Amino acid sequence: MEHLVSTSILNSDFLNLGQVVKLVNNSLSDWIHLDIMDGVFVPNISFGFPIVASVKGASAKPLDVHLMIVDPDRYLTRFRDAGAYNLTVQYEACIHLQRTVTEIRNLGMKAGVALNPHTPVSLLKNTLPYIDMVLIMTVNPGFGGQTFIQECFSKVRELRKMIDDGGYNVLIEVDGGIEPSNAPSLVEAGVNVLVAGHSIFGSADPEETIRKLKHSS
Ligand code: DX5
Ligand code: ZN
Repeated sequence: MEHLVSTSILNSDFLNLGQVVKLVNNSLSDWIHLDIMDGVFVPNISFGFPIVASVKGASAKPLDVHLMIVDPDRYLTRFRDAGAYNLTVQYEACIHLQRTVTEIRNLGMKAGVALNPHTPVSLLKNTLPYIDMVLIMTVNPGFGGQTFIQECFSKVRELRKMIDDGGYNVLIEVDGGIEPSNAPSLVEAGVNVLVAGHSIFGSADPEETIRKLKHSS
């Protein structure tokens, strides 16, 4: 399949969020990526339900919601009600992961699991039948604009093999430090979804950068 682009608004102009969503609507971006940070799982706090619901109201693209919060089970229904299409939880934040991802699916959302850079993909061997996406973090979560960790390439290749060998219908998403220069090799390694924030909103022409990411191969 052709790969997807998910635009992260974390580093966009929050004072003009309506314009930001319009830009994403008019671009080749497939999804809009929303980073929820609680100041506990990660050393940063981002935004919550009112912003997610407002973006949902204005977005023509599905909401790709990435939870960097402890004990996400408390809020699955609220993110569904706020309009999440994908709901991705961090592996390290879930004690009963299979229960959590099953609940996400039962609520009508796609279930994703994110792995911190130090968390091996092999730990998902028994979870792949129950999820729709794995998010391989290519930076330590918490902030936009960090440098891509090269070691993550081997994680992508290993996960690609696990998914293909098992015949699972699971997407591989990468998030952190993604830019037009490293996107083609990631797609080549087996990535299905590229998340990017800083490389898009830090560029002179965000729509053009999205186009470059979309046409990376
Ligand atoms: C980081 C977030 C990312 C972030 C990526 O913790 O999960 O989604 O927005 O941003 P860039 O593309 O700036 O590295
Ligand atoms: Zn993210």
